[in-house]
Amino acid sequence: MRILSGIQPTGNLHLGNYLGAIRNWVAMQDRVSAEGGECLYFLADLHAISMPHVPADLAANTREMVAALVACGIDPDRSILFNQAQVPQHAELQWLLNGTARMGWLNRMTQWKDKAGKNREGASVALFTYPVLQAADVLLYQSTHVPVGEDQKQHLELARDVAQKFNNDFAPRDEDGEIVPVFTLPEPFIPPEAARIMSLREGTAKMSKSDPSEMSRINMTDSADTIVQKIKKAKTDPEPLPSDKAGLEGRAEAKNLVAIYAVMSGNTVDGVLADFGGEGFGKFKPALADLLVEKLAPINARFVELREDTAALDAILRKGAEKARALAIPTLNKAYDALGLVRG
Ligand code: TYM
Repeated sequence: MRILSGIQPTGNLHLGNYLGAIRNWVAMQDRVSAEGGECLYFLADLHAISMPHVPADLAANTREMVAALVACGIDPDRSILFNQAQVPQHAELQWLLNGTARMGWLNRMTQWKDKAGKNREGASVALFTYPVLQAADVLLYQSTHVPVGEDQKQHLELARDVAQKFNNDFAPRDEDGEIVPVFTLPEPFIPPEAARIMSLREGTAKMSKSDPSEMSRINMTDSADTIVQKIKKAKTDPEPLPSDKAGLEGRAEAKNLVAIYAVMSGNTVDGVLADFGGEGFGKFKPALADLLVEKLAPINARFVELREDTAALDAILRKGAEKARALAIPTLNKAYDALGLVRG
């Protein structure tokens, strides 16, 4: 089992990242410790330069994100934690895969359409080829499982398409003429209950680092007071909570808050509604805020402590990058060879 996933070090780690992805990164880390294999988790700093950015902020956010991930339970002794910029094999493999990925595939990516908007001429080339770098991230390590939220599904499908086309077009054959694959096809691992955590201000928009409203998201590093305020101000409707899941249909904001409660408490949505069905938000919101404060307080405390020691955070990344490079090089070499590129 080879687990891999990444996160962009832009802004704060929020509850959507945690429930959609990081929680599963930690769970997979435990599974790999018990069953064998490797977990590779990285900061997608090369992806972060696809949008306008301030260099000093990127450097600070990269270190803060390491502190936040460790505070959430990623153990740098058990998982390989690194940033792409220190493993140049990611960028190298991207170039090799640029020969396989098709313009039409990239043109269909919803993230490209959303982020470039109407200004395609002004968008960076990196934003367009972003999914090819993501394919390189995954394929470089022969990853088998990729824990992500729903919004990354399309990018992972593209990674599978790239792997399949590369294997078909370039992989060597054995004596029976069978393909000896260069790349493993990765499986996305998306949590059904928390695949898409929505904004607290608008139930139809996903919770996101790029939303200009701080009130739209709970950051993993928010203080107890901030969490209480954000939940209090979260958009809802005037109806009491229903007694079962079906009653949440068409009530995006209520559905989102109940889902957050369910996942954070380890209960099912129906289980939460068995407790709160018939109650109004006046009762439910304080209970949700209490639960979040209880669960996030230890993470916040650990984060505040870890973020101070930037030398230790840099050392984590350096050590992780060294291990990642060792795992990446054999696959990168196979890709060069398969393409007929002579390297002495
Ligand atoms: P990023 O940085 O946007 O998000 C990190 C992870 O958090 C998940 N996520 C969510 N899940 C549920 N609800 C939400 N509202 C929500 N918002 C974010 C994302 O699905 C993701 O799993 N392109 C990626 C980073 C990346 C990557 C990779 C991931 C680069 N290379 C290779 C996997 C494999 C990104 O920008 O994630």
